[in-house]
Amino acid sequence: MDAMMIHFRTQHGSVLDAGLARVILPGVMLMALVASPVLAQSQDVTERVRALFTSKCADCHGAELKKPKGGLGNIEHVQALLANAKYVKRFDPANSLLYQYLDGSQTPQMPKGDDPLTLDELKLVRE
Ligand code: HEC
Repeated sequence: MDAMMIHFRTQHGSVLDAGLARVILPGVMLMALVASPVLAQSQDVTERVRALFTSKCADCHGAELKKPKGGLGNIEHVQALLANAKYVKRFDPANSLLYQYLDGSQTPQMPKGDDPLTLDELKLVRE
């Protein structure tokens, strides 16, 4: 009896799933097609900012430091940084503490003891 019930349910389920899949799949595929270039671009920017911060900032703000400078560590974790309202006001670099330290409106300008970022590097971080 139990076995029959289970059998019935799976059959019923799979008929339903197949019907749903026929409706949903093309939609999902279309969305993936439209979204992937945008996604790829923003991942690319994130990767390049990560590379920049890892080379220029990680000595003082790196994840492996027990006492990162200014209390800011994990500089390589760009996604987490973007989500941290203390440092980043989304799409508003002029009001983002992180950016203010880079363009010199907050002192000491970062990266401390090194040349300021180039305009291209600043542009990358703004994105
Ligand atoms: C040579 C060490 C050094 C390097 C390299 C460095 N920093 Fe800093 N950073 C500091 C120190 C020290 C402070 C604390 C400054 C203060 O308030 O006196 C600080 C503070 C900061 C703050 C403010 C933290 C807060 O909560 O107030 C930000 C943001 C920051 N750094 C970002 C960066 C970024 C981004 C880079 C790379 C482009 C960088 N720093 C590179 C030493 C460094």
